[in-house]
Amino acid sequence: MKKPTSIGPAAGKLAVLLPGLGAVATTLIAGVEAVRRGMAKPIGSLTQMSTVRLGKRTEKRSPPIRELVPLADLSDLCFGAWDVFPDDAYASATHARVLEQDLVDALREPLAAVKPMKAVFSPEYVRRLDGPNVKKAPTKRDLGELLREDIRRFVSANGCARAVMVWCASTEVYLQPTAVHAELGVFERAMAANDPAIAPSMIYAWAALKEGVPFANGAPNLTVDIPALQQLARQQGVPIAGKDFKTGQTLMKTVLAPMLKARMLGLDGWFSTNILGNRDGEVLDDPGSFKTKEVSKLSVLEHILQPQLYPDLYGRFEHKVQINYYRPRGDNKEGWDAIDIVGWLGYPMQIKVNFLCRDSILAAPVALDVALFLDLAARAGMKGIQEWLSFYFKSPMVAEGLYPEHDLFIQLTKLKNTLRHIAGEELITHLGLEYYGG
Ligand SMILES: NC(=O)c1ccc[n+]([C@@H]2O[C@H](COP(=O)([O-])OP(=O)(O)OC[C@H]3O[C@@H](n4cnc5c(N)ncnc54)[C@H](O)[C@@H]3O)[C@@H](O)[C@H]2O)c1
Repeated sequence: MKKPTSIGPAAGKLAVLLPGLGAVATTLIAGVEAVRRGMAKPIGSLTQMSTVRLGKRTEKRSPPIRELVPLADLSDLCFGAWDVFPDDAYASATHARVLEQDLVDALREPLAAVKPMKAVFSPEYVRRLDGPNVKKAPTKRDLGELLREDIRRFVSANGCARAVMVWCASTEVYLQPTAVHAELGVFERAMAANDPAIAPSMIYAWAALKEGVPFANGAPNLTVDIPALQQLARQQGVPIAGKDFKTGQTLMKTVLAPMLKARMLGLDGWFSTNILGNRDGEVLDDPGSFKTKEVSKLSVLEHILQPQLYPDLYGRFEHKVQINYYRPRGDNKEGWDAIDIVGWLGYPMQIKVNFLCRDSILAAPVALDVALFLDLAARAGMKGIQEWLSFYFKSPMVAEGLYPEHDLFIQLTKLKNTLRHIAGEELITHLGLEYYGG
């Protein structure tokens, strides 16, 4: 197999910096520690389990992704975090009740070693939350500088060669891009002036990019999806990705909706509802944070079904999304989809999906892959928005003027072709005429 030529090896330790040490972050950290010790398998992670076919089907070359491209090894990851609460990852994982307590106890030592740094936080942006482990400084710019110091200190104290940051903190209230977000100079002056349009997540992203650290956004917050920070990412030569991990109901939507469109079946309505009882559910019970999530979840069908191209099929469908906080279920979310479809001659049919999932069990491998792929992108010299990572996000970031690609299988093809491209291998077009003398 041709070896990648232009990418540096994944030598040395990689700091994985996580704003938010809650359910997703602790399930990621505990999972990596469990896999390292041979206690469990990294199921759900492409970087750890998936292969990529190379060349013709007759060549039978399908190396694992981690052999095709140089990814950081799990044993080289070093986790750091910030949280509003001072609980270490052991206490937080125990509180989150995602993993069996026996497993959490067996990993007590590495988990207890992850102690959250003081957060940049304000309850104006996450109304259902407040805690004591918070930085104080006169301006948002100063808070950003404190985060930069944290990053430098963490990287040097742990002897890390590189770092990536993945936002795993709560969903902030809905913000729309304004003039403050349009240009880097204006944005930085607005930080110094404590402008309310600058959310805490933007301060983390700014600090990461200033330090040359790739940033990904696992929540639907605006964060790095603004021109000012995209400009900073390009200027610093750093990759960014987002937003909102695609894990449960939206993952299903981005599989089922392309099927309807592929077969030219119509849609009359799609009603999605969920119950969940974790802290994320509690935060999303606030209308401000829910609005951010709702916008992220709603955009998917419009983009996949393209009503402007198919007015007869998708010109007037109804799409509703509800999230209900229901404590008894904890992290074990249950989702229902009632889908009213239309077939030949306009005859109605129905599809029902009842997904009994585990929120953080689905999210943790996504967070891992995003961290490892962002680090790969940085070493491969890729900067700015990484559209090939759309596969992992509900609201994929794209260049201005482009619509996002939501179809999971197109996203997967794009991801695998990007890996082939990075590795200097032929892209696969799926034309296949060569097998028939074409
Ligand atoms: N399947 C999934 O679990 C999934 C899918 C997509 C997106 N997400 C998003 O991922 C995020 C994390 O989900 P979770 O279930 O781990 O939530 P969680 O509530 O368990 O954890 C979030 C943590 O972030 C902390 N926090 C909030 N604001 C902070 C700040 N400014 N700085 C540092 N810490 C802060 C909170 O104290 C909390 O401990 C949420 O925004 C959620 O919407 C989750």
